[in-house]
Amino acid sequence: MKSFAIFISGRGTNMEALLKAHRDGALHARPAVVISNKSDARGVAVAGSYGAPVETVPWKNADAAEGRCIEILKDRGVDFIVLAGFMKILTPRLIGAFRHRILNIHPALLPAFPGTHAQKQALDYGVRYTGCTTHFVTEGVDAGPVILQRVVPVYDGDTEELLSARILRFEHEILIESVNLMAADCLEVLDGRNVRIHHEVRA
Ligand code: GAR
Repeated sequence: MKSFAIFISGRGTNMEALLKAHRDGALHARPAVVISNKSDARGVAVAGSYGAPVETVPWKNADAAEGRCIEILKDRGVDFIVLAGFMKILTPRLIGAFRHRILNIHPALLPAFPGTHAQKQALDYGVRYTGCTTHFVTEGVDAGPVILQRVVPVYDGDTEELLSARILRFEHEILIESVNLMAADCLEVLDGRNVRIHHEVRA
């Protein structure tokens, strides 16, 4: 079974969805370690409550931080990485070491509304539908090959909190689904842009 690392920065509900799915036997990969750039993140305590090993890596210097992460990932024999509400931008060093093996969850239908506060961006723009996206991480921010997406409606009178909560449960769904596809070797990046999803086991 493949194993993966989860990177977090905050409350960690996406991470928790993965840990819960693993506990319930619904995840076909093993969460080997949670890495947080903040020691006091709510997600750190949550990971502990699931018995997941946690490492805190301060991110003052990105190069040093990524060097430390690479050591941890090697020690734990990690096959791939999931960014689950991780708010630091990775450099080509870590991205290159795990090419097409880093997944990110984003709370909008990329390429619309990249970066931070994607739900507020959607409300300010006035779109009727937004959603969430899982994608592979490349050197461009939120610009990598798309894996899965879900469409979520925006309602009149929505606040950022209401819309974020509506999107979040779909984030959890597609993140679990994407990890399972990754674990089963079902994702192929064809040309650096398009992802083919293989539903049969490949030779
Ligand atoms: C999630 O909505 C995630 O999509 C978003 O941060 C939130 C983290 O929540 N990520 C980004 O905006 C990345 N650009 P969580 O800590 O409860 O999973």
